[in-house]
Amino acid sequence: MEKKFKRTLITTALPYANGPVHIGHLAGVYVPADIYARYMRLKGEDVIMIGGSDEHGVPITLRARKEGITPQEVVDRYHAIIRDSLHDLGVSFDIYSRTTSPLHHKTASEFFRHLYDKGEFTRQTSMQPYDESAGQFLADRYVTGTCPKCGNEHAYGDQCEACGTSLNATDLINPRSALTNAPVTMRETTHWYLPLNKWEDKLRSWILDGHKEWKTNVYGQCKSWIDMGLQPRAVSRDLDWGVPVPVEGGEGKVLYVWFDAPIGYISNTKELLPDTWETYWKDPETRIINFIGKDNIVFHCIVFPAMLMAYGDGFQLPDNVPANEFLNLEGDKISTSRNWAVWLHEYLADFPGKQDVLRYVLTANAPETKDNDFTWTDFQARNNNELVAILGNFVNRAMVLVHKYFDGTLPAAGALTDKETALIAEVEAVKGRLSEALDTFHFREALREAMELARLGNRYLQETEPWKVAKTDMDRTATILNTAIQLCANIAIAFEPFLPFMSERLLKMLGGKTITWDMLGCFDLVAAGATLGKPELLFDKIEDSTIQAQLDRLAAIKEENRKNAWRPEPQAPDVDFDTFMKADLRVGTVLECQKVPKADKLLRFLIDDGMEQRTIVSGIAAHYKPEELVGKQVVFIANLPPRKLRGITSQGMILSAENSDGSLSVITTSRPVAPGASVK
Ligand code: 2FM
Ligand code: ZN
Repeated sequence: MEKKFKRTLITTALPYANGPVHIGHLAGVYVPADIYARYMRLKGEDVIMIGGSDEHGVPITLRARKEGITPQEVVDRYHAIIRDSLHDLGVSFDIYSRTTSPLHHKTASEFFRHLYDKGEFTRQTSMQPYDESAGQFLADRYVTGTCPKCGNEHAYGDQCEACGTSLNATDLINPRSALTNAPVTMRETTHWYLPLNKWEDKLRSWILDGHKEWKTNVYGQCKSWIDMGLQPRAVSRDLDWGVPVPVEGGEGKVLYVWFDAPIGYISNTKELLPDTWETYWKDPETRIINFIGKDNIVFHCIVFPAMLMAYGDGFQLPDNVPANEFLNLEGDKISTSRNWAVWLHEYLADFPGKQDVLRYVLTANAPETKDNDFTWTDFQARNNNELVAILGNFVNRAMVLVHKYFDGTLPAAGALTDKETALIAEVEAVKGRLSEALDTFHFREALREAMELARLGNRYLQETEPWKVAKTDMDRTATILNTAIQLCANIAIAFEPFLPFMSERLLKMLGGKTITWDMLGCFDLVAAGATLGKPELLFDKIEDSTIQAQLDRLAAIKEENRKNAWRPEPQAPDVDFDTFMKADLRVGTVLECQKVPKADKLLRFLIDDGMEQRTIVSGIAAHYKPEELVGKQVVFIANLPPRKLRGITSQGMILSAENSDGSLSVITTSRPVAPGASVK
């Protein structure tokens, strides 16, 4: 039997305050959580939605160091940007706080202390990378050096981005500190560990037996972690930014950011409800739902639950953790460091009044079961072909017709025909499917169902043709338009969780009304005789030029990243002098140059080499027009064995330099020389 709950606590992953939030965060966490919270509120459920910034961790200290400011200044800046932009998108937090708050420090500190006093931690000593000149330990990510696998000199201590190998800092050749570039040494340090192995059986039965209804991506990840066997996890770090370890021996150490961040959910509930917060955490009749991205699954399903079990005292575990996969941008992984993102605060500035468009596109395309791609052309198409052409169009037609035939006063409906009864039954069916999809966190499907209402509306008007009926039968016209306006009110309800700005405007046009989810399916929501507002377009078309501007911005970023990422190839192994001297390099003058038919890349040269004329074929057609090279002096290798390319015998090879963007530049001489001159 379905368990009945008295209240719901919704948590949303706390974003790191070392950058603004982007569409990946929104699609993965904040939009779905907000849809769910709004739905619960419309149903009259007791629900709170908790959010806040995650303000600890090494990346914030690094950013501060790089900018020459304090970590507090870094988090103050981004906390404000994140808080304000999420608010402006309509994400309806009951509280959005932060982990640098004194209340959070106190809560996290006491949490640690309680586990410590209960003997829930072990202590372990290990060797860790240390930067002597900065006087601090380094997380693996902040050690750089040469990859033992591929020789990339800029590999990180956790991974080589050139060849993809995952590494430990100790694997790197010539490890250096990313902070100071100083050589890294190893030092002994001691930390507190949470023995996850102790909780393995309980976690296994709680998740693997008790929550088979969880999303398969979440369940599967948990299963593979648990099946691999859980290990003790360090919960402290050698760092001076974070919640200080509050026990003996904790000097110079802080709680690991992943230990304190989830406690932030508790601190923020306390801040919101100082007197009653415990009912949201300890009453078994509370349902806790954690909205997160897939990279957070292990912390929310394994580590934090183990912390809560170790704490005891009635703390409840989450009922569901509907984690999403990732959203990519134009085919590439979103990346804060590479600035490959659509930042929320920039979107809001570039698209004023279009919060719902973004909410719509991110929900319609949500990465619920697999990674998905955000593209600007899809954004435009969904706006123009769905929001404008289907939803906006139906509401506008209904509103305009009431103004045209009844001066904006809603006429009473007369006798209903089969058309109306069928429509009402279909709306009822949509309500059932929509509620079911929302209850089970299938938000894409839920949005499709809501959209079905607008499709039904367009079809209804198309079939009943009130503009024709009005010529002969005003009673029937009144019934049709009354029905259409009731459907508009249903749309305002069904879409409120998804498109709250549109819903509010629509309700205003319909004369203003407080709505509840129960009202969905009713066809007496707007009273006959009500004065309707002026018809306003709910959505407008997005032009190609607007989309092009966004694509241009991304292209510029891509170009910038490519330039920054380019490094000369590693030096080749030594070659002995005599071997090198065997290559006969000469200068020749280009007499003729032509494209090779049916070979995109090849140019055919006729070269004056001082003795005769020789033919050389070279793969540089993408980089030069043939006529650009005629008369130029080029350097070529004269003593390569002849080679046949597309039926042409090539007698040598022309030298070019490969630029950082992959373009080729032919090597020439700085002054004219006699054809055939040797290059030494
Ligand atoms: O992955 C992240 O962005 C983390 N800052 C999420 C923390 S969620 C919670 F535990 F606070
Ligand atoms: Zn490598």
